[in-house]
Amino acid sequence: MEQAKTIEGVLLSGTMDLKTFYGLDFTGSGSPVRLFNPHEVSDPASIRFAVCWLPDDEAFARYPNMEMAMSVGAGVDALLANPSLAEETLVCRVRDPHQADLMAGYAAHEVLHFLRSFAQMKDHQGARAWNPLPMTPPKETRIAVLGNGTMGAAIARALAAMGYSVAVACRTQPEEPQAGISYHSGTGALDMACKGSRIAINVLPLTDETENILNRRLFNQLEAGAWLVQIGRGEHLHEADFTEALDNGQLAGATLDVFREEPLPENHPFWDDARLRITPHIASDSTPSVVAEQIRASAVELLQGKRPLLAIDRHQGY
Ligand code: GLV
Repeated sequence: MEQAKTIEGVLLSGTMDLKTFYGLDFTGSGSPVRLFNPHEVSDPASIRFAVCWLPDDEAFARYPNMEMAMSVGAGVDALLANPSLAEETLVCRVRDPHQADLMAGYAAHEVLHFLRSFAQMKDHQGARAWNPLPMTPPKETRIAVLGNGTMGAAIARALAAMGYSVAVACRTQPEEPQAGISYHSGTGALDMACKGSRIAINVLPLTDETENILNRRLFNQLEAGAWLVQIGRGEHLHEADFTEALDNGQLAGATLDVFREEPLPENHPFWDDARLRITPHIASDSTPSVVAEQIRASAVELLQGKRPLLAIDRHQGY
């Protein structure tokens, strides 16, 4: 049988215009990869892959020959939870080093904001008070980074370069450990990384295993009066345990960028809590040119009958 020379895909998102946002124009003649909006698809059976961000529950139902669903972001949790995505469809994700750098910058900003007392400085400015506060050498501050994927590794590297004592919780020991970072893997990895840490930064993928992982047990491993930087997924946070830890002083406060419900509902108590710093899921974003290139490369691999390099392990959940 003659091999197909082109491969066709569809853009599926319930929240955004992917084609415009990422500049995904693959319709030019000569391109082996063709990408359409759903209303442009006349023969759904010809569609072999999808490019996705938060697709509607029924989004995949129309396409009987879907071989690959690719997230334009790092997280695949929403894709894996989609009820119309068939078990056998490969799931891929973008792996963007620039996105990881953005994430590292956000984390470093929040680390410094807390450790260098910038909130108090702002109050002092308001009171015209010249009031220097004590500081400690970074090496004496332990920071736990939960997760060692593209994001976690970039954050750990950046903080270690700033001199902090970084403890990473990871599933398996890295092949190329970075100097100055301690890695904790296997059972008890999270506890070990968090033990005595002044800050915990969460970038774990969301899976059945990691839901509600930011809970009383984990907070109690941290130094009293610690800070949480939550840039994973909203479902990682056990909200009742979190409120308890803020109220009993185990946590001094937290930076929250992700929430169970997004946008964060107007009546959610987090909005008014002065101990929290809230941002609207902007810790990082993938780079349009990287997204476009990785979609093209993955679709070409599929066309050539190869398993795309960016395919995740569905069993592991990331
Ligand atoms: C952002 O949340 C992403 O998954 O890339």
